[in-house]
Amino acid sequence: MKKRVKKECRRIVSGKYYDELMGLIARTLIAIEVERDELDRCLEAFSSYLTVGVVDPAPDDLNFKMIMALMEPEIERAAERSARARRRKKPKSADEGNKEAPAPLNNNMQEIVFATNNQHKLEEIRRIVGDKFRILSLSDIGCHEEIPETASTLSGNALLKARYVKRHYGYDCFADDTGLMVDALGGAPGVYSARFAGPAHDSAANMELLLRRMDGAVNRSARFVTVIALLLDGEEHLFEGKVEGEILSAPQGTAGFGYDPVFKPAESPVSFACMSADDKNAISHRGRATALLLDYLSKL
Ligand code: IMP
Repeated sequence: MKKRVKKECRRIVSGKYYDELMGLIARTLIAIEVERDELDRCLEAFSSYLTVGVVDPAPDDLNFKMIMALMEPEIERAAERSARARRRKKPKSADEGNKEAPAPLNNNMQEIVFATNNQHKLEEIRRIVGDKFRILSLSDIGCHEEIPETASTLSGNALLKARYVKRHYGYDCFADDTGLMVDALGGAPGVYSARFAGPAHDSAANMELLLRRMDGAVNRSARFVTVIALLLDGEEHLFEGKVEGEILSAPQGTAGFGYDPVFKPAESPVSFACMSADDKNAISHRGRATALLLDYLSKL
């Protein structure tokens, strides 16, 4: 659909029908079968760009290109939303009609970008999501740079990452941020969990520092919190998952990643690093946040 919108918009620009611009955009929207309300919304956006003076209605080449640069993403969003609305309206088969569970978003595997290149996280999420969605990583969409995580909250960082991907690569996506909150340390390392022992993001050094700071602490209660930010159709949604537990006095187990060897969830007699991937996902912060995300997506 993206390609089709691009092609149609390029056709309009090459035609340079300034006076008929509104009509041309409307015809393009009809040709790509957007729903009526989406068509209205798009044309309203077009008029508002003119009335608020984002672009000058006087027809010159530069101005014309600017209008179309603004309109192309509007048209693309309208097309995506319309396709989604059509899928929602599609009558269920007799077989599906008897089931209570909501129909899946798409029978074909739908793609969604997860704003990470962390292989552990990707594996965990792909395992949780199963064959409901094909999860693309940042490298799958050609994003290899480090995305700044400069917010002071988990939700702030998750939103920063999701917005960055949308702004620079044009994909709707979701991003997560996780923190380990330790009560005896006043909630630290929290949002700074990845850089607790310095900017190197060194998990072994982070764990070592945590155990040192916790040496002799009686209250060892802690929790992992994950916030997932979903950016879809111009809207932002947040999902939070949490797991309560305690910090062990020495590392235990070798599975998982990050602080897994020193975190024992309350529901388990052993650390995350001693559990199978499925057992960890069933109770983990990320597993819970992802379940909320999937629940939301499956109802679209
Ligand atoms: P991030 O911001 O989600 O990348 O995670 C922040 C820090 O928490 C990193 O140091 C991760 O290694 C750690 N972390 C995130 N999720 C987990 C987990 O499931 N188990 C253990 N450590 C984690």
